[in-house]
Amino acid sequence: MSLLEGKKYNIITFGCQMNEHDSETIAGMLQEEGCTPVLAKEESDITIINTCSVRENADKRFFGTLGQLKKIKEKNPEYVACVCGCMMQQQHIIDTIKSKYPWVDIIFGTHNIDSFPELLNKVVREKVKAVEILEDRSDIIEGLPAKRLFRHKSFVNIMYGCNNFCTYCIVPYTRGREKSRKPEDIVAEIKRLVADDVKEVTLLGQNVNSYQGVFSDGTGCDFTDLIYLINDIEGLERIRFMTSHPKDLSDKLIQAFADCDKLCKYIHLPVQSGSTSVLRRMNRKYDREKYLNLVAKLREKVPGITISTDIIVGFPGETEEEFEDTMTLVDAVGYDSAFTFLYSIRTGTPAAEYDNQIPEEVKHARFNRLVDAINEGSAAKNAAYVGRVEKVLVEGQSKKDESTLTGRTDGFKLVDFPGDSSLIGQIVDVEITEGKTFSLRGRIVE
Ligand code: 5AD
Ligand code: SF4
Repeated sequence: MSLLEGKKYNIITFGCQMNEHDSETIAGMLQEEGCTPVLAKEESDITIINTCSVRENADKRFFGTLGQLKKIKEKNPEYVACVCGCMMQQQHIIDTIKSKYPWVDIIFGTHNIDSFPELLNKVVREKVKAVEILEDRSDIIEGLPAKRLFRHKSFVNIMYGCNNFCTYCIVPYTRGREKSRKPEDIVAEIKRLVADDVKEVTLLGQNVNSYQGVFSDGTGCDFTDLIYLINDIEGLERIRFMTSHPKDLSDKLIQAFADCDKLCKYIHLPVQSGSTSVLRRMNRKYDREKYLNLVAKLREKVPGITISTDIIVGFPGETEEEFEDTMTLVDAVGYDSAFTFLYSIRTGTPAAEYDNQIPEEVKHARFNRLVDAINEGSAAKNAAYVGRVEKVLVEGQSKKDESTLTGRTDGFKLVDFPGDSSLIGQIVDVEITEGKTFSLRGRIVE
């Protein structure tokens, strides 16, 4: 019997889908050891905080949560406090934890999630502390279990790491260089998921367009080839992917939207800024015109495609005119939704050293203007759905009201509608009756 049998665990996840998926893997490994999940960290024997370092507020929230674990440890000396994820790939963070948060028992990084069960067993057995971080690694560990967050949809990693070094971004330093999984391993994983009731997969990578898989016989497989392969998997209903880098979005991929019936007509295409000069300083390797051309091509070849984006406001040196370029680009594209971020200095990145940082109040004023414009655009896009019938994968019941179901359209719009829980996991036709800023309401078409 495992030393960990019967122990209760709680995972707190910060950050992106990549982290969410890593947490699913950690949960899967713990369940294989006989542990069971609990909702509150106060009720757990083991807490794992999976961290994000992409912006400073995630750092702050992490240290706040870490402070709260001290009390739990004082009450229960057997309690095991674990921290992992992107922040742990930075030495100054580990030094801070060791000096200021001595109640932490286990620290591990993004490259060695697979070693967590061994570290945990050792810490419980020998009552020691454990720190294990790898700088990077060239291999990919296959076959780790995962406890999915959703029954009918799943994330699937197709690649790890990033080679792009956008000047504001910490990810290439915390997640290492790009590594692509073998296409056969990805297809086999998706087939197993489909056999376990999964209808929709989201292919994950920092930049999926630069996926470079190699079949066991040595032939290459690019991202589009992979989509065609996955589109042939029987029983799978929907394919999504994120994130796409505009510099690598090929005509071949745009064609795949037309050819592959399972590929959802939705793309998350981070622009970051609408100004060519800012994009150059960000090292994004495309300009405003190229981005707008891509959007025009997508709209022409994939009628009805929905588009979302990420935008950073207040990048070092951003002038009023450069910010205006972002406002006009948002207007020209007509995004369905957008994530907006205040530029956050990340130690170790080139932009952190730029001497023309933007004052906080200027950043905030621009941010508010941008968010208003984006919300207005989203509300108008969503209002135009009223009267349309959309195919919705029913994901579950609304948290507020059991008689309301929630799901997503092919274009990734969240829809609420009255219905019975027996429909969860099915794709149903929903007539849209109301378009709100962040979601739609509808009714099932009989
Ligand atoms: N400051 C603000 N936003 C950032 N992002 C990445 N790094 C930073 C930073 N230093 C944003 C980008 C990216 C998203 C995941 O986070 O918009 O696309
Ligand atoms: Fe960061 Fe740029 Fe890589 Fe995205 S593409 S993870 S923004 S460095």
